[in-house]
Amino acid sequence: MRLVVVSNRVSAPDREGKIGVGGLAVALRAALRERGGIWFGWSGRVAAAPAEHPQIVQRGKVGYAVVDIAPIDRDEYYLGFANRALWPNMHYRLGLTQFSRAEFSGYMRVNRRFALALAAIIQPDDLVWVHDYHLIPFAAELRRLGITNRIGYFHHIPWPPIDVFGALPGSDDLLAALKAYDLVGVQTERDAGNLARSFAETPGGTPDAAPRIIALPIGIDTAAFRIAAQRAESNSVVARTMSELGARRLVIGVDRLDYSKGIVERLESFERFMISNPDRRGNVMLLQISPPSRSEVLEYEQLGRQTDETLGRINSTLGDPSWMPIRFVKRAYTHAVLAGLFRNAAVGLVTPMRDGMNLVAKEYVAAQRPDDPGVLVLSRFAGAAAQMREALIVNPFDKFEVAEAISTALLMPKDERIARWRVLFDGLCRQDIGWWTQSFVDALTGSANAAAP
Ligand code: G6P
Repeated sequence: MRLVVVSNRVSAPDREGKIGVGGLAVALRAALRERGGIWFGWSGRVAAAPAEHPQIVQRGKVGYAVVDIAPIDRDEYYLGFANRALWPNMHYRLGLTQFSRAEFSGYMRVNRRFALALAAIIQPDDLVWVHDYHLIPFAAELRRLGITNRIGYFHHIPWPPIDVFGALPGSDDLLAALKAYDLVGVQTERDAGNLARSFAETPGGTPDAAPRIIALPIGIDTAAFRIAAQRAESNSVVARTMSELGARRLVIGVDRLDYSKGIVERLESFERFMISNPDRRGNVMLLQISPPSRSEVLEYEQLGRQTDETLGRINSTLGDPSWMPIRFVKRAYTHAVLAGLFRNAAVGLVTPMRDGMNLVAKEYVAAQRPDDPGVLVLSRFAGAAAQMREALIVNPFDKFEVAEAISTALLMPKDERIARWRVLFDGLCRQDIGWWTQSFVDALTGSANAAAP
């Protein structure tokens, strides 16, 4: 059976290697590499009069089928409903959620257009696997066109409780649209419970009105990332960074510049750590790598300014001529460089305010040296926390708690670091990206076919 993966963001073959596109594209690339198939979605380009049919490029076992979108589609669908309404709502940020009817209908329209474009190339036996919040109504649109293939959906970001989700206009329509899928996957049991209760508690809803839901935490290509980290010892960016660092210990954070990631809060937690541990000044440094993301959305632009201000304030008050506490880099690096930096960092700081999974937490662990691993400090609000109990789990809203965890991590005896790392790493080997893909595909092919004509 051919696998057809559908996602808004397609990691184009010429961009492979760079991060900045987020965990989803990196994971899907790994998922498709072995199995092969078609990857359909937005080209990332905007065209005044986009062609109806997808452009197809074959690279190895993967056929990339992409479509352009019109400027109004980008505004209403991508920047609008997907990222001004759904994204903040699903990250529990009601105050940031902006709804517009025009944007909602743009979102529905683009889903219809994408469905039309895919319907033209779909074969009867294809297994269709749709990814993420941009494409919730995609299967319903395919069904409308008479497509009866098995179609699964995976939701990479959190599914909030109905009190939050239900506040979003259009939420009832989205729940109804989800029923067109044969299977809906989410990251954690918490998300699965929230989603199931959304169906039960929505006006006129009942628990059996829900589609089949599974909690299936996404993994990484653990073996490949580990090898990349070993090889990165000789990478020039990594080597230069480490030689400049000298005997100082490195604390690292890597996230898209997104308010859900808690970057400003993290800088302030590190400041708190420095204030509480003056003896550490001069011998520890936080390296925060944050490629810009969705900068046309106001909240993201504001976040850019806020991080600059916070960074300037902390460095200028705590730094001295020979040392700055925080180094902040707003650009994307290859996985090879990140793997090498992770390997050399004594602490991995992954402290989102809310996150579907967070693959950086997993990559940091996969990159460590087995005989001298660093310590992961992980937000309890990342989906990864449900699996990675041996990390130091923190509440990112509490800067004192995060500051204490940084201190505990830096002081942790080697035996304990090794013991914790071993359990985490074994988990990553068992539940890697291959396991995730296979488990979803198995569940989808074994699932009752709601698509019977
Ligand atoms: C998150 C989302 C993905 C998205 C990525 C990057 O990981 O779950 O769907 O692709 O962020 O965001 P962007 O808007 O650049 O696609």
